[in-house]
Amino acid sequence: MPGFEIPRHVAIIMDGNGRWAAARGLPRGEGHRRGVEALRKTVRAAGEMGISILTIFSFSAENWSRPASEIRDLMGLLRRFIRNDLAELHQNGVKVRVIGAREDLDPEIRKLLEEAEDLTHGNDGLTLVVAFNYGARQEIARAAARIAAEVQAGRMEPSDVTADHIGQCLDAPDLPDPDLIIRTSGEQRLSNFLLWQAAYSELVFVPTYWPDFDREALETAIAEYHRRERRFGGLIARTGS
Ligand code: FPP
Repeated sequence: MPGFEIPRHVAIIMDGNGRWAAARGLPRGEGHRRGVEALRKTVRAAGEMGISILTIFSFSAENWSRPASEIRDLMGLLRRFIRNDLAELHQNGVKVRVIGAREDLDPEIRKLLEEAEDLTHGNDGLTLVVAFNYGARQEIARAAARIAAEVQAGRMEPSDVTADHIGQCLDAPDLPDPDLIIRTSGEQRLSNFLLWQAAYSELVFVPTYWPDFDREALETAIAEYHRRERRFGGLIARTGS
């Protein structure tokens, strides 16, 4: 356990499964399977470390452009993750939330995601936010469409639209913005992940491929976060959001 205050909300772009597999002469699917093991370890560590919210980028709105076999693999892994791990997550007090465009998903996957949310709804341990079929621009566009409908219905004026109002129309408006966003695999970009919510997040990029990520890697990223000075556009550093 690190000897300092830990961020309330950590979000992770789990990248590098394919490269991890290629480096070992294994199929990409094997990298994703090992990625699920890293996810299990990370969820457990996050809960034990006292992180309140962990958001994971599990399937992006752009991942549909991958080969059909890889999409099938990823959907299969999500199905198995929920079927095999939901009971344990629930037992450990984890509350599952899902963000992204779920109406475009296969009805069976949608049902599993809803089951996970419903079963764990009353839990008060770690909140695990699964970003699935998620893209930040699409999320912001959905919010804009909701606001446009309100204006069209005469329930608000265009001049009433504020940043707070847009934030309230996003997929999980009750959750605080991430304090820390970690991306594995050495890539240094957000790739359409939480673009609105990342306005003041600290970004930490680590060279580790996702399947090798573990508690120690999480602690190292949090230690880096603690070396940053968060000013939120002002002059005096403060922590949390
Ligand atoms: C990036 O690796 C990872 C993904 C596209 C998906 C992340 C998925 C998992 C960790 C496993 C699935 C978990 C659930 C709950 C569905 P990449 O394939 O982009 O790696 P590369 O950039 O090295 O090719």
